Amino acid sequence: MIEDKRIDLNKLPKHVTIIMDGNGRWAKNKGEHRIFGHQSGVKSVRECTEAAAELGIKYLTLYAFSTENWMRPKEEVDALMELLVETILDETPTLNKNNIRLQAIGNLKSLPKKCIAQLQQAIDETRKNNGLTLVLALSYSAKWEIIEAVKKIAADVKENKLNIEQINEQIFDDALSTQNIPHPELLIRTSGEQRISNFLLWQIAYTELYFTETLWPDFNRQAFFDAIVDYQNRERRFGKISEQLTS
Ligand code: IPE
Ligand code: IPE
Ligand code: MG
Repeated sequence: MIEDKRIDLNKLPKHVTIIMDGNGRWAKNKGEHRIFGHQSGVKSVRECTEAAAELGIKYLTLYAFSTENWMRPKEEVDALMELLVETILDETPTLNKNNIRLQAIGNLKSLPKKCIAQLQQAIDETRKNNGLTLVLALSYSAKWEIIEAVKKIAADVKENKLNIEQINEQIFDDALSTQNIPHPELLIRTSGEQRISNFLLWQIAYTELYFTETLWPDFNRQAFFDAIVDYQNRERRFGKISEQLTS
C-alpha cells in the first residue's frame, strides 16, 4: 500500500534513476570509516527498490560505481566490490519475491571475476520477472558508453551493414548499453552535489533533475516519495509552450 496520498499513480515516471552519493560524508559525520557509509547505503537501495516496485515504476537505474571510482584508494574499491557481491547474493531471493528483474550496464568485464559471476547468476535467476527492472550501473561512465556505441556504429558502416545517412537517434539509442530501456523521466542525486558525474549523458537529454541535500544512507522510502511528488508537480514542455500541452 502506498501511504503517500500526494502521489498520482496515473502520472508515474516509467524510469527513475539515482546517483547515490554521500556515503563517505555520512560516515565521516559519525566518526566512522567511509566503508561503513557504503554498508549503510545498502538499506537505502533496498527501500528505494521496494518503493519503486510497489508504485509500479518499470525501471530503476542506480549509479553504484563509476569508471572514475576505480581511482579511489584500493582498500575502498575492494570493499565496494566485496559489498556488491554480498548484497547481490543476499538480495536475490527478495528480488524474486518482489518480481524484480536485475540488469547491469557498464564495462562489466573490468569487474573482479567473483563479481561478474555473482552478477550474472542474479541476472539469470531473475530473468523471468516482469515487475520492476532494477539496473545497476557498474564501472559505468557515459563517455565510455558513447565511445562504445560510436565504435559499434562505425564497424557496421565499415562492413556495409549501415549507410552513414541512416544513422539517426534510434540507431544511436540501440547501440548504447541501455538499448530497450526508456530514457529516464526523473534523475535524483543525493548529497547536495549538483552535477552529473559522467552518468547517462545521452539518455538524460530531457530528464527532470532532482537534487537533495540528504546523504544516501539517510535517503529512505519517504524521501523517494518526496522526489516523485516533486516530479509530478513539474510541467514538462519539451520545447513547446504551456497552452499547447493542455489543448
Ligand atoms: C557514493 O558515496 C558511493 C560511491 C560513489 C560508490 P561516496 O563514496 O561518493 O560518498 P561521498 O561523496 O564521498 O560523501
Ligand atoms: C558519482 O559519485 C558516482 C556514483 C554515485 C557511483 P562520485 O562521488 O564518484 O562523484 P563526484 O566525484 O563527486 O563527481
Ligand atoms: Mg561522492
